[in-house]
Amino acid sequence: MKKNKIFVACDSSNILKVKRIISKTQSSKIKVGYKFGLEFINSKDGRPFLSKLKNKTIFVDLKLHDIPNTCASTVKAIKDLKINYLTIHISSGLEALKATKKVSGKIKLIGVTILTSLDNKALKDIGFNKDVKKLVLHQARMANKAKLDAIVCSAQEVKLVKKVFKKEIITPGIRFNSKSNDQKRVVTPKQAYKNGSDWLVMGRPITQGNIKKNIQNLIDHLGK
Ligand code: C5P
Repeated sequence: MKKNKIFVACDSSNILKVKRIISKTQSSKIKVGYKFGLEFINSKDGRPFLSKLKNKTIFVDLKLHDIPNTCASTVKAIKDLKINYLTIHISSGLEALKATKKVSGKIKLIGVTILTSLDNKALKDIGFNKDVKKLVLHQARMANKAKLDAIVCSAQEVKLVKKVFKKEIITPGIRFNSKSNDQKRVVTPKQAYKNGSDWLVMGRPITQGNIKKNIQNLIDHLGK
């Protein structure tokens, strides 16, 4: 049987903490990749560390949100890093998505839909007049048009996204219980895979407290 796949979010600016996250999350039962976001990449030692990291599935979560030229140029600027996945906000627009995809080469370009920290009320506050589900579906169609390699959405929208986007679906906002922190659209790991997620993204539920125990909890929860 295929292994369940998760990206562990290495959200820290502390190299020792990130090293600990990597060593304590090794498992033969699930496939683990590592996600590095703005906090880590912008820390003093983050980029050099990443440039030396070998034999790992690496996801760089830059969440590009800019004009086509800037997004595409940024991809060129990180080509020295051997990374597997990179994010861009779909709301950067179709031209930016296409321009970035054109230069991304072997890096899988992931389109980020509506952040899992936003709900319908938050969208209204920003000025959107469509609800979460309609917007995510609309953006999944854009990701398809731009030939992106993967999409990020909440596991609540996976079934909907699958209707129009046939490649990898990656879902953050994963929680074992009601402790959702700043996330609004949350789903349990088991339910997220059941809905059809290819990869889960998990940060705090794995990296806070006893990391080894948290990974074992995940494996038990999944019945592996
Ligand atoms: O700690 P937690 O599990 O909430 O971490 C989720 C991770 O996924 C964070 O690194 C966050 O930046 C990222 N993410 C997200 N929602 C998105 C895209 C990425 O939470 N839509």
